[in-house]
Amino acid sequence: MTDSVHKNFVDSFKAELKIASPGRINLIGEHTDYNKGFVLPTAIDKHIVFQFKKNGTTDTCNVYSATFDKMLTFNLNEVAPSDKEWENYILGVVSQIQLRGKKLSGFDCIIESYLPMGSGISSSAALECGLAFGLNQIFNLGLEKIELVKIGQKAEHTYVGTQCGIMDQFASVMSQSGHVILLDCNSISHQMIPADFGDYQVLLLNTNVSHNLADSAYNTRVAECASVVEAIAKYYPDVTSLRGVNFEMLAEVTSEITPIAYKRARFVLEENERVNKAVEALKSKDLNTFGELMYGSHSGLQNDYEVSCEELDFLTAFSKDYDQVLGARMMGGGFGGCTINLIRKDGVESFVAEATKAYKEKFNIDLTSFTAVPSQGTAVTN
Ligand code: GLA
Repeated sequence: MTDSVHKNFVDSFKAELKIASPGRINLIGEHTDYNKGFVLPTAIDKHIVFQFKKNGTTDTCNVYSATFDKMLTFNLNEVAPSDKEWENYILGVVSQIQLRGKKLSGFDCIIESYLPMGSGISSSAALECGLAFGLNQIFNLGLEKIELVKIGQKAEHTYVGTQCGIMDQFASVMSQSGHVILLDCNSISHQMIPADFGDYQVLLLNTNVSHNLADSAYNTRVAECASVVEAIAKYYPDVTSLRGVNFEMLAEVTSEITPIAYKRARFVLEENERVNKAVEALKSKDLNTFGELMYGSHSGLQNDYEVSCEELDFLTAFSKDYDQVLGARMMGGGFGGCTINLIRKDGVESFVAEATKAYKEKFNIDLTSFTAVPSQGTAVTN
């Protein structure tokens, strides 16, 4: 960065405000959020850090990504989608704030990411929410936290082009240290559940692959689930999402939907049940059951929802031979990124060493790993 043409911008920067916006994990409940189901995420102790200042202009904004050593300069009166993906997260958020009738003026911002990219811990939500949070503060926009969540999600729908659910942004903004969030994505009501894992902890194994299918396949899954809702709504007009569907209703329309759509919907119904069972297990400190449910989730994601990949399947299967691991599964949208493992603290070192060796032998790729601690959401930092 020191050699960068942007050195002057960075060196003379006097931040008015610093924000840390976290990545997230999801214990269980995958691909349920856009189906108005249940999820169990939390923010973690890894962040994107933002520095903000007003620059005294009415409409010029300079956003520098220290991670990519790239500068985005834009005019507030001409906000439009860009052909560069990272810029769309920024521009999408600004556009959503403007659409809510909120007045911005020129600002400068430096962004530094400490989140492993493409690892499925939602660096995108951290980016969107950190920016929205910071602009809300420095311009006194008076937006509630839940509005910041929705601004992030909408930015992704409109500028990035992923029809994501609300989980990532909600976790990034709303999380509380030491808790996981049971979020009902239908009513957007939530419960904070103490993340009491006793002798166990969360370990992420990063496949370091990101198959480029991910974005298009994601939107296809959204559409497949919508097709089932449409078929069921012919008989049950009140049904507007898979949340309103039970197994009997699904059985009634089997002949009217594709076998693939049937599998997708069945997975979603089962996954919602798993989340509720997992919460009961966590509350009663039955971590063995919790772990079994994680494996069940992976199996459904692999075979029915078909969003896993060879690398994620390998690591999940590999973990089953370790007594110290109670459960593991792919996490996030899929097609790469991390597995999330619930593992005894004293087993982490040997498990990581053996998984790394086996993974290298099988795929000739270096595995990386990190532990994740349930932490607070987006906040002002020093
Ligand atoms: C991505 C999306 C989320 C969610 C997960 C899958 O992370 O951004 O909204 O759908 O995939 O559970």
